[in-house]
Amino acid sequence: MSDTTKVSGDLHIGLASDARAAVTAVLNALLADEFMLYSRARAFHWNVTGRHFSSDHKLFEDEYEALDEIIDDVAERTRALGGKVPARLADYVEHARLEDVESRGMSAEAMIASLRDGHEAVARQLRADTAIADEHGDEGTADFLTGLMEGHEKRAWMLRSHLEG
Ligand SMILES: [Fe+2]
Repeated sequence: MSDTTKVSGDLHIGLASDARAAVTAVLNALLADEFMLYSRARAFHWNVTGRHFSSDHKLFEDEYEALDEIIDDVAERTRALGGKVPARLADYVEHARLEDVESRGMSAEAMIASLRDGHEAVARQLRADTAIADEHGDEGTADFLTGLMEGHEKRAWMLRSHLEG
C-alpha cells in the first residue's frame, strides 16, 4: 500500500503528514470497497430478471447512483488530505475487501441479499475506520465516515425490507 500512503507536505490544516497518510490509507481501502459495491449494483441493474424486473431494475439503479456519489466523496476526501487516489481497476481489486460477485445466474432475491450484505460489511468496516480517524485527531474524516456508515446502515435496512416483503 506504499503508493497509497504518500501525502503532500505542503498542506496546513492542522494535521501532521503521518496522520494524514494513515487516514488516507483507510480512505483508499474504503474507496475500493465502495467501487466494488457500485460495480455490483450496476451488474445487478443489467442482469436482473423476474416478475419484479421493473422495480428491481430501478432499485439497483438507485443503489449505483448513490454509490457513485459516495465514491466521489471518498476520493475527494483523500485529495483534501493531500493524498493521491489509486484509481486503476487493478487498485480496486487489490485493495477491496468485498468479493467481486458474478451476477449472471443470480436470482433477484439473491442480488438484493448480496447488496444488503455488502452494505452491512461496509458499515462494519466504517465503524473501525471511524475509530482510526479519531485516533489520529482527524475529526473531519471521522465525521464524514460516521455519516457514510449511517447511509450504509439505512440502505441495508431498505434492502432487508424488500426481502421481508
Ligand atoms: Fe440503465
